Amino acid sequence: MEIELSPPPVALREQARERLFGSVWTRDLNDVFADVAPYYDRANYVASLGLWNWFLGRFMATIELRPNQRVLDVCAGTNAVGIALLRREPSLEVHAIDRSAAMQEVGQQRARAMGLGVHSTIGDVHELPFPDNHFDVVTIQYASRHLRVRRVFEEIHRVLKPGGCFHHCDMLRPGNPLVEKLYYVYLRFCLALTGFLFQSGPAALKCKEYFINALQMFYSADELSEMLRDLGYRDVAAKTIFAGMIGFHRAVKPPPN
Ligand SMILES: C[S@@+](CC[C@H](N)C(=O)[O-])C[C@H]1O[C@@H](n2cnc3c(N)ncnc32)[C@H](O)[C@@H]1O
Repeated sequence: MEIELSPPPVALREQARERLFGSVWTRDLNDVFADVAPYYDRANYVASLGLWNWFLGRFMATIELRPNQRVLDVCAGTNAVGIALLRREPSLEVHAIDRSAAMQEVGQQRARAMGLGVHSTIGDVHELPFPDNHFDVVTIQYASRHLRVRRVFEEIHRVLKPGGCFHHCDMLRPGNPLVEKLYYVYLRFCLALTGFLFQSGPAALKCKEYFINALQMFYSADELSEMLRDLGYRDVAAKTIFAGMIGFHRAVKPPPN
């Protein structure tokens, strides 16, 4: 059933997201990603009208790298980000964490086929199994909508070295209501099309409407910037494309005074 969700003010948003989606996050999502893992990259290519790699290129262009840096890609999925970073700077030490062993298996095969090494950890990113002040760069792409996002951003802050940089990319809630409406119509069409083309299983089909609802209750670019500042990040910068439908954020963990 299609429902129009209107998000409450930012201060109440995380509680509302938890109430609406907590059980999907905990109970259903892992089965969804186990189902879609074999065709995840192809489905995104189709749904984005072939622009998937261009989007990735736009995100990569916001990330500054230096040789030998240690990087963590959170909710790494099929390792699109880790692979793109290593192709640009092969001396990086790249770590990937994701709860889905199926998505990481595809990601590891992709990396190995290109002769690249990504250190993989299977686990829930609400508690990152890494020491404090450990990474120079942390990335997350197309996953925050499925997370208790404040909690994960706090964890990312903890594992970043002082002066280290967090780079975020996700589909966001566009500011313009008309754009927002059209966006959801298009996404519903894409989910139906890719479900049919790739013969999605019951877990993915059951969660089709969740993917729209999660976006309806997510944050705009400005709201996300404000949250990052509130959590102690500095030099927060945001860039959006396609009328705010996709956003790239960059935020620095400040050195101690
Ligand atoms: C839409 S995919 C994005 C994958 C990848 N970052 C990309 O850009 O293609 C979302 C990923 O987040 C992972 N994920 C969702 N909730 C998670 C959690 N609580 N802990 C770890 N991974 C999670 C899923 O398993 C899935 O691989």
